[in-house]
Amino acid sequence: MNGKSVLLIVGGGIAAYKTLDLIRRLKERGVTVRTVLTDGGAHFVTELSLAALSGEPVHRDMFATDTEGRIGHIQLSRVSDLVVVAPATADLMAKMAAGLAGDLASALLLAADKKVLLAPSMNVKMWNHPATKRNVETLKRDGILFVGPAAGDLACGETGSGRMAEPAEIFAAIEAQLIEHRPLAGMKALVTAGPTHEAIDPVRYIANRSSGKQGYAIAAALALAGAETVLVSGPTDLAPPYGIKLVKVNSAREMLAACRAALPADVAIFAAAVADWRPETAADAKIKKAGAVPSFRLTENPDILAAVAQGTPRPRLTVGFAAETENLDANAAAKRTRKGCDWIVANDVSDGAVFGNDSNRVHLLTEHGVEQWPELSKREIGERLVLRIADALKGIEA
Ligand code: CTP
Repeated sequence: MNGKSVLLIVGGGIAAYKTLDLIRRLKERGVTVRTVLTDGGAHFVTELSLAALSGEPVHRDMFATDTEGRIGHIQLSRVSDLVVVAPATADLMAKMAAGLAGDLASALLLAADKKVLLAPSMNVKMWNHPATKRNVETLKRDGILFVGPAAGDLACGETGSGRMAEPAEIFAAIEAQLIEHRPLAGMKALVTAGPTHEAIDPVRYIANRSSGKQGYAIAAALALAGAETVLVSGPTDLAPPYGIKLVKVNSAREMLAACRAALPADVAIFAAAVADWRPETAADAKIKKAGAVPSFRLTENPDILAAVAQGTPRPRLTVGFAAETENLDANAAAKRTRKGCDWIVANDVSDGAVFGNDSNRVHLLTEHGVEQWPELSKREIGERLVLRIADALKGIEA
């Protein structure tokens, strides 16, 4: 996204404070952010905050002689790659739907020749009002894009739909619009992520320390690269990446069934930390503390990676992960052969640091040998892996 630019219109809603975080995220990734602050928006965030975070002058007035002379309200949208409205109020959406242009924000939106993304934010009654519904329909028909709103507790004390999407979600929606390179367009991808929970009884389970971050980052990168992506995830606290289909499961057996249902796929990446064993029988009722200390036998879980890599329809490329505490490359190479997958992403988990961390140091084992990657964020590992996958798929017949 480096070098891209966004015109961000900040409407009058309490959620405007979240927009400040959105600007920070965009700037971090090298995006130029030009802001327009409406009169309503100025009640919630200051011009100074927007200017300081964006490093750009803030536009307020349609008839300001200085900016009109230099850029003008038409030019402001012309020099940007995308127009974003966050928060998008019911009033601003109504103006857009009606084609009004009485202030700088609505004039810019009417004059825009770029895609427009709205992050609505309003009271649940306003969002559900027939007038707003009509306007949303009209705007969607006009090609306007939406992210959110989410349901939940609203600042006004009521509960329901109308809460502005979180900055991370708006960021992902922007990223999906700004990225042009889509080497996996038209392809299908499957990713597993997170731990599995193996029931002992209705309240207890066996689990592991996987956070799911790496698998989620890979799924996000696949979707950004244009792949139709199914993410089969064990229990995690993570927000689903933008543009993927999320299938939530608990146990290894559920994960295998969900993976089979997602086939055929061009590429499948198995980043989940699947429990190798489960209790042979899960108790139907909670095991009570009174009485003897319980003991239970474990039985082996299905190996999902091996089942998919050795089954049909086999994805053109299967990528496993190997979490090792010793002899990283040798153990990972043996795992690659044993499981029948094409590549292994191996990581050393001996100090436990990788679990839940945002960065990792991995080795990629392919048919050509071992590549040692430097320490990278899990997002960067996802992006790099996806570029390698796109390259490899060019050479593998469908
Ligand atoms: N995997 C899987 N199903 C299992 C176990 C593992 O799909 N029941 C996948 C993981 O998602 C990962 C790879 O197999 O891609 C290797 O997982 P890992 O835990 O490192 O290996 P194990 O097969 O458990 O072998 P070991 O415990 O001997 O290291």
